[in-house]
Amino acid sequence: MRDLLPPESARHRRLVDVFADVVEGAGFELLVPPLLEDVGVFRRLGEATEVVSKEMYQFTDLGGRDVALRPEMTAGVCRAFVEHRPPTPWKTWCSGPNFRYEKPQRGRFRQFEQVDLEVLGVVDPYLDVEVIAVGWRFFEALGLRQVELRLNSLGDPADRARYVEALRTHFEANLDSLSTDSRDTLKRNPLRVLDSKRATDQDVIAGSPLGTDFLSAEATAHFATVRAGLDALGIPYTLDPRLVRGLDYYLRTTFEYAGGTLTSAQNALGGGGRYDGLVEALGGPPTPGIGFAIGVDRTLLACDDEGVFPAPASAVDVFVVDTTGGAEALAITEQLRRSGRSADRAFDGRSMKAQMKAADRSKATLAVIIGDDERAGGTAVVRPLRDGGEQRVVDRAELVTHVLAELGEPT
Ligand code: HAM
Repeated sequence: MRDLLPPESARHRRLVDVFADVVEGAGFELLVPPLLEDVGVFRRLGEATEVVSKEMYQFTDLGGRDVALRPEMTAGVCRAFVEHRPPTPWKTWCSGPNFRYEKPQRGRFRQFEQVDLEVLGVVDPYLDVEVIAVGWRFFEALGLRQVELRLNSLGDPADRARYVEALRTHFEANLDSLSTDSRDTLKRNPLRVLDSKRATDQDVIAGSPLGTDFLSAEATAHFATVRAGLDALGIPYTLDPRLVRGLDYYLRTTFEYAGGTLTSAQNALGGGGRYDGLVEALGGPPTPGIGFAIGVDRTLLACDDEGVFPAPASAVDVFVVDTTGGAEALAITEQLRRSGRSADRAFDGRSMKAQMKAADRSKATLAVIIGDDERAGGTAVVRPLRDGGEQRVVDRAELVTHVLAELGEPT
């Protein structure tokens, strides 16, 4: 697990702010579910899901309860829905860390952050369009231009079951050509074999049946409306009939946002789909759901690769240098901060040279300097640090007014 240090940490926060702006502009409200849930909540995601069966951080707490750190957010959102029974549609978003015991590598960490969006209680295919479009607009807001939307439908439970059986038959007929790992996966979940990136499996996968051939009339119509809606919004997508994704709860519309620049194993920036059975599995009334999660870390890697969404500048407006003991700096930083401008200072009674160095490092716009002469004369020096400009000596009583005028309107 990593520490997130400045300036990358500020970039994470700003990304979440951008997400909040986009989704709150579409009527989604913030939900803050706990990081830790009863392990049963996640078990409902399906034992065949590796995230649940192999990658969960689970333990027994001091009260003897079996709990787990969340490996994803959808199960917790559904648990919260069952517990609080809010009116539907329930349009929520959340953000924060998730935990999976995976092999860490570029774009894959054991603690990683997601922004997540879920809607419970609506079957309308136009909602699928809205959800997918909100994610798309978020990537646009970051400035990313190479994201690819991949789209599929896994049909209704009966369609999916028939499809899974057809896949099982196909893979069993070609067992000799499958890798040992995929043979193992086949026993647990034939759908997941489609996700194999191993070269040996690719021929058998290429010849496997397509999910879209197993869709009921209703699921076909639903999917057609979703595609038409995306077309109407001008959102480009690629139909990917072998897109199954890692979690097992998906039905009907399933999608992924893939980055244009990351290597294939880690190029999914985010993804989601419908999961009409999850609320019921958690003890609630039958309630349709749809949502997605986007990985913050991977999205920022994609931003690096495309040269967009840089770390925000962390400079303060003013750095106060006070070599007379520090009480002047205390008063001036307080006055400036109360006036709505940012200010920093040095401590420990350091020398003029050391404090000026700190002022430079702070990238502040202005330095306010008070030495013994200034204190004796009731003045202060105001020195522009960045864009040239004249240094001035001003009356101590006028200092804050002068500094505020010099800084102009906050940007
Ligand atoms: P997921 O595909 O497991 O879906 O994760 C979504 C995104 O989280 C991935 O595309 C990736 O960017 C990021 N992610 C996943 N694992 C890691 C990791 N180990 N390190 C870094 N980033 C990672 C879900 O979590 C579903 N809950 C999405 C959803 C919401 N479906 C419906 N509603």
